[in-house]
Amino acid sequence: MSEHQSSTLSIPPVGAIPRHIAVIMDGNGRWARRRFLPRVAGHRKGMEAVRATVRACGELGVEYLTLFAFSSENWRRPKEEVNFLMQLFVSMLEQEVMKLRDNGIRLKVVGSRERLEERLVRLIEQAETLTRDNRKLTLTVAVNYGGRWDIIQAVQRMLQAQPELATQFGETDLAPYLAMSYAPEPDLFIRTGGEQRVSNFLLWQLAYTELYFTDILWPDFDARALHQAILWYQQRERRFGRTSEQLAETLERRKPA
Ligand code: FPP
Repeated sequence: MSEHQSSTLSIPPVGAIPRHIAVIMDGNGRWARRRFLPRVAGHRKGMEAVRATVRACGELGVEYLTLFAFSSENWRRPKEEVNFLMQLFVSMLEQEVMKLRDNGIRLKVVGSRERLEERLVRLIEQAETLTRDNRKLTLTVAVNYGGRWDIIQAVQRMLQAQPELATQFGETDLAPYLAMSYAPEPDLFIRTGGEQRVSNFLLWQLAYTELYFTDILWPDFDARALHQAILWYQQRERRFGRTSEQLAETLERRKPA
């Protein structure tokens, strides 16, 4: 495959509901602090915002929702907080997996499983198997994930499978080995909590994604906040490297006769 070929394959129509939304759920700690509660209370409330967002995405027809739940850097947090978050993932998998299965939701977990407890890894595998045929919404939870880790593991796996590519390879050779190769690239990225950073989330996959930042703290995020983000997205002009004139022509051709 030529190295000049772009791996950004599908170009969605303008004004549509984003097919894939990726979210950095930031602000749980601050939400709790403002209420004089321990940080973990923010994560517990954040779990409710996850439920509301999954439900709203299902209703809107969003096909892929990807949530950054724990970054490779989050191990640096206090031990009790890390343990609490791991326990939260375990409870989510134990308690919600049947609901996911019955609601047409396919669950995927991306990230390195190396530092995860055996019990958590087992639950992840069971949940992925149980929901693998669902297609209404693919919910990806990024746990112990980092964008740089993803690119490096993809290169390693590619070279292991196809050593002949060592001297030359392109984007489309690498793409199948990235952790989210089953999904189109995100159309819309949302980060709550006021920071305007990508924080080593999906670095490769965000190349052409519209980036939306809101001051809303994650535990306060709900269907209304999601609708606001989508409205903002629908007003953006997505050019994928093309000129405005070319886009206008494309739209003109799409109009019904
Ligand atoms: C960032 O807020 C949030 C996290 C690191 C954890 C996110 C986890 C959840 C919302 C619950 C579990 C979700 C799933 C999908 C199982 P922060 O703690 O960095 O907040 P701060 O910036 O205000 O301190």
